[in-house]
Amino acid sequence: MAIEHEVETTGLVGWIDRRFPLTSTWKKHVSEYYAPKNFNFWYFFGSLALLVLVNQIVTGIFLTMNYKPDATLAFSSVEYIMREVPWGWLIRYMHSTGASMFFVVVYLHMFRGLLYGSYRKPRELVWVFGCAIFLCLMAEAFFGYLLPWGQMSFWGAQVIVNLFSAIPFIGPDLSLWIRGDYVVSDVTLNRFFAFHVIAIPLVLIGLVVAHLVALHEVGSNNPDGIEIKAKKDPDGIPLDGIPFHPYYSVHDFMGVTVFLIIFAAIIFFAPEMGGYFLEANNFIPANPLQTPQEIAPVWYFTAFYAMLRATTDPFKIVLMIIVALLGLFALVRARGKWKLGLPVLAVLVVLAMAFTESKFWGVVVMGGAVISLFFLPWLDRSPVKSIRYRPFFHKVFYGIFVLAFLTLGFLGTKPPSPASTLIAQICALIYFAFFLGMPVWTRLGTFKQPPERVRFKPH
Ligand code: HEM
Repeated sequence: MAIEHEVETTGLVGWIDRRFPLTSTWKKHVSEYYAPKNFNFWYFFGSLALLVLVNQIVTGIFLTMNYKPDATLAFSSVEYIMREVPWGWLIRYMHSTGASMFFVVVYLHMFRGLLYGSYRKPRELVWVFGCAIFLCLMAEAFFGYLLPWGQMSFWGAQVIVNLFSAIPFIGPDLSLWIRGDYVVSDVTLNRFFAFHVIAIPLVLIGLVVAHLVALHEVGSNNPDGIEIKAKKDPDGIPLDGIPFHPYYSVHDFMGVTVFLIIFAAIIFFAPEMGGYFLEANNFIPANPLQTPQEIAPVWYFTAFYAMLRATTDPFKIVLMIIVALLGLFALVRARGKWKLGLPVLAVLVVLAMAFTESKFWGVVVMGGAVISLFFLPWLDRSPVKSIRYRPFFHKVFYGIFVLAFLTLGFLGTKPPSPASTLIAQICALIYFAFFLGMPVWTRLGTFKQPPERVRFKPH
């Protein structure tokens, strides 16, 4: 039974309600949106992501008022904002720190989804929209990083756009098309500016709306991973649900307060975060004639960058062997049309790998690492959603996966060495094994029986 939301009939609100669904929307999505009563720490990060999104948009608008998207003026316009514009330094640091905090918050938000199986049926679309948001966020950060026109902006963009040239046949033309020039230039800066300030933010906002609409259609998951809608009172209200407002608005307000203290502390005391949030080389104007000693992306990209760098020629051979073994496995185990289709596909991939350079496969590995996330809802076959009721070895696998990802992130910030490349290769294999093996390992072990009702201890 759907919940009936009563609306106002008198006064100004009544007048509006007869013309626009104001009260009913407020009730449906806020004051009568019933969320599970056992939300914990991990449930702060959705609302924090919204807060950071608003911060980025508002500070971005003010930055645009003084920023010049012109290769001869961009660097000095940022210096002008920092030194001359009243409070310009604060706006700029709020935006640059906000970019890093966006990724901190979103990584933790995604990790929560992993912990409690929030991507599982019926929340597949919530997750898929989330993954699309993550892709957009990466594009947004990449385009934005070119704008200060420092050494890292220039050379980072040069390296990443050049990656596209490794794609067989269309690669060189594609990278030329993206740049709009033979090297990263004023033309590139102008189009990256257009993407950063309007195109991607529009898509991002649209996706966030879709993300929340999808979530409110099916209702929130919770740390126990059980569906509160399965047990309702005679009015159709979930027995374990509480109205989002005032209960979670107050809860989230507490999270926002703690977050803002940390955010302010970083802005005022360590806005560069020792080179992790703003790199030293980016305080030097872009010089197309001088490549910096180290070209490393900002921390939130380093795990994926480490996978790209780890795809060397010998690693490509390892990957070819793995693909061949998977093809063989499919030949033995698959049924129906997959029996022949998968092994043939494996042979084609191995042949393609043999005749193309490893740089291209590095791009495939890096892209594949992000794309794999989209498939999580269909890869995980465990009979329970939440980590709480899974076998101990699942927790160990999650731990190893997180450790491999963090190690990749760390290695991506350092110059490569033979030892670190080997470690990155092992971690990349762990990363993919976690996802590809999921249909098998998530079914294994002894699961605990989840409780009938959510577990909740009032403080
Ligand atoms: C701009 C970025 C994002 C914003 C503003 C955002 C916002 C939100 C909000 C407000 C919620 C409800 C509160 C909560 O459960 O924490 C939520 C839930 C959720 N989000 Fe996001 N999100 C973002 C990115 C992502 C990404 C990148 C993913 C995954 C790839 C994701 C996956 C989910 C899932 C699965 C839920 C449901 C969680 C549950 O019910 O347990 N979100 N999001």
